[in-house]
Amino acid sequence: MRLILAPMEGLADEDMRDVLTRLGGIDLCVAEFVRVTHHLLTERKFLSTVPELANGGCTRAGVPVRVQLLGSDAVCLAENAALVASLGAPGIDLNFGCPAPTVNRHGGGAVLLQYPEHIHAIVAATRRAVPRHIPVTAKMRLGLEDASLALDCARAIEAGGADELTVHARTKADGYRFPARWEWLAHIREEVKLPVVANGDVYTPRDWEEIRQVSGCSDVMIGRGAIISPDLARRIKTGGEPMPWAELLPWVVDYYGRVRARVEPRYAPGRLKQWLGMLRGAYPEAGELHQTLRTERDPVAMGKVLEGLCQIILRAKTPL
Ligand SMILES: Cc1cc2nc3c(=O)[nH]c(=O)nc-3n(C[C@H](O)[C@H](O)[C@H](O)COP(=O)(O)O)c2cc1C
Repeated sequence: MRLILAPMEGLADEDMRDVLTRLGGIDLCVAEFVRVTHHLLTERKFLSTVPELANGGCTRAGVPVRVQLLGSDAVCLAENAALVASLGAPGIDLNFGCPAPTVNRHGGGAVLLQYPEHIHAIVAATRRAVPRHIPVTAKMRLGLEDASLALDCARAIEAGGADELTVHARTKADGYRFPARWEWLAHIREEVKLPVVANGDVYTPRDWEEIRQVSGCSDVMIGRGAIISPDLARRIKTGGEPMPWAELLPWVVDYYGRVRARVEPRYAPGRLKQWLGMLRGAYPEAGELHQTLRTERDPVAMGKVLEGLCQIILRAKTPL
C-alpha cells in the first residue's frame, strides 16, 4: 500500500519534493521527465533535474526518487538509463504519456501509445541496459485519442520486462478533464501480472479509498492533490484533520527560501505564486495571500511579506 508522488514538470521540483516528503506519508517520488533525444546526456544534466542523486537518490527525508526518461529512441534511452543507474538512481521510469506538443512532435510521450511494439522495444532495451536490482518502470496514459490500444500498451510494457506500471487514467485527448476513468485501471490490472499503480484525481483520503476499490490496485500515485493539500499523503496514512493554514505557512516559507536559493531570482516569485494559486483550492488564506502578492515581482519583498505573516501568526499563538 504505497503512496507515490507523481512527476510534475514545473510543479513538483526538488524543493517541492523536499517539503512534501518531510510532511510525511509519501513512500516514493518520481522526478519530472528528463528528455532524451539522440545523445548521451551529461551527469550534470541529470543531477540538475534530480539533485537527490547526490544524496543517495533520496530526498532529505530519506524517500527514494526515481528518475524519469522521456524519448523515442530505444538505444539512446537505454544508454542514458545505464548512466542514470550508475549515478545511483533508485529506479528508472519511462514516460509514455506526456501530452506536450513539442515532445509529441518529436515522437515522444503520448504519441508512442499508438505503437505498442515501439513501446516494447524501449522498455526491453532499457531493462537490458540497467542492472537487475534497479527497477525499470513505466507510466502511461490510456491512449492518444481513445483507449483502444491501452491493453496492448500495458501488455507491451510487461513483455518488455518492466517491474511496475503506473496508469494515469486518461487519454491525451482527455487532457486533465475531470473525472479520470478509474474503471480502465481495473481492466489493465486484470490484463497484466506486473504491479499496476493507480493515478488520476485523488484529492482526498476518500478519493484514495475509492480509486483503490474501483481499480483493485493497492498502490496509488498522487499528483495535484498533494500540491493542493500538502498533508494529503500523511492524512491518508494516519487519518486526522487537514493541517491548518497557520501550520502550513512555515512550510510555504521554507519552500520559498529553498527556491530562492536555487533558481534565478526573477523566477522565484512565479514559483511561489503558482503554489499559492493551487493551495487556494484547500486554503482560502492562500487565496488572499496570492491576491496580495499578485503584482509583486521582487523576490526579497515577497519573502518579507511571507515572513511578516508568519510572525503575526506566531504572535497570535503565543499567550501574552
Ligand atoms: C504540471 C504538470 C506536470 C506534469 N509533468 C509530468 C511529467 O514530467 N511526467 C509524467 O509522467 N507526468 C507528468 N504529469 C502528469 C502527472 O504525473 C499525473 O499523471 C497527472 O497529473 C494525474 O494525476 P493527478 O490527478 O493526481 O494530478 C504532469 C502533470 C502536471 C499537472
